Amino acid sequence: MPPALRGVPLLDDLGDLDGRHVLVRVDFNVPLERTAAGEWAVADDFRIRSTVPTLRALLDRGATVVCCSHLGRPSGPGDPHWQMAPVRDALAAICPEAELMENLRFEPGESANDPAFVDRLVDGFDAYVNDAFGASHRAHASIVGPPERLPSAAGLRLAREVEVIAGLLDEPKRPFVAVLGGAKVADKLGVVASVGRIADAVLIGGAMAFTFLASQGRGVGASLVDQSRIDDCWALLGGASRVVLPTDIVALSPGAAFGPGCIEGDVKCFEGDLPDGWVGLDIGETSAAVFSRLVSDAATVLWNGPMGAFEDDRFASGTDAVAHAVAKSSSFSVVGGGDSALALERSGLSSEVSFVSTGGGATLKLLEHGDLPALVALRGASNAPSRL
Ligand code: 3PG
Ligand code: MG
Repeated sequence: MPPALRGVPLLDDLGDLDGRHVLVRVDFNVPLERTAAGEWAVADDFRIRSTVPTLRALLDRGATVVCCSHLGRPSGPGDPHWQMAPVRDALAAICPEAELMENLRFEPGESANDPAFVDRLVDGFDAYVNDAFGASHRAHASIVGPPERLPSAAGLRLAREVEVIAGLLDEPKRPFVAVLGGAKVADKLGVVASVGRIADAVLIGGAMAFTFLASQGRGVGASLVDQSRIDDCWALLGGASRVVLPTDIVALSPGAAFGPGCIEGDVKCFEGDLPDGWVGLDIGETSAAVFSRLVSDAATVLWNGPMGAFEDDRFASGTDAVAHAVAKSSSFSVVGGGDSALALERSGLSSEVSFVSTGGGATLKLLEHGDLPALVALRGASNAPSRL
């Protein structure tokens, strides 16, 4: 058991649930799409399906189950775009016995972690279960409040997520290769540092690579660079961990737009420096081949974040190559973050990896800190193993 799970109460620590009312915090913050009839519907129910084993386990023990979740970032109470109705329909299709409350973020007390809101939330319940891994890095009312008031437990999905993701930092099979991408380098530096201490190699792609390349004095044209993080990147490159950066970059000519369906501008692959004004939007073929080979030779792989602007087909090759390499490898492979999961799904490869996390930010925070606010709260519950 990784240290992060120690002292966290599990479903068996809840005792008899027959006839009890259980509040289950889930992360049903799922993508929505408009149907032909103009209604909102759930576009991907992965997060909903992931909690069904927990809901079933509680129902089978005779509990009445009420779920609660946030959805999106509503502008205020009742924001029509973020009503739970479409999510409730999706849940009813796979687990009709479980109820679902209205969007928690319609209540200002949720994000503010207001104790009065926690009191109202837990009113009438006998126990609390957190199965919302994707939201467990948020110290919000529904995540950290209930364990102070009710016997509590981590749900099956939350426990499994923590076991797998925190487990990567705890004696992984070697070689352990991490592939990190995405745009915001500031969000990932802590992960590069903590994973870099354990992994045999950290491969960096996506827009975050340009701040690392700039720190080495490489010409990055007009690519996205976070000037305030150049020194941090340089320090990480000089550290003990083996960071591998792309050597060739696919870039778009000055001034052109990119995104789904865009066709304007010239697209070229450059070895070494990018010319002035060119925007790097994917790793090149040589880098993709190097990354793929390192992934193929690994015994443990972590992949979080796309290698480029893959929603524009012209810049999807690097991400596709990594997706295929991760899927083909016989390693224990863990994929985190909505974009990487989407890239896998687009290539029909989701079932080829060992574990797809339901978390984005939560995955990164757990890897960075080895713990999460939700787990700290659960360890403090009156029925936690360490407290008894
Ligand atoms: C997510 O999708 O990342 C989680 O549900 C958390 O959502 P938030 O970033 O809006 O807090
Ligand atoms: Mg998020």
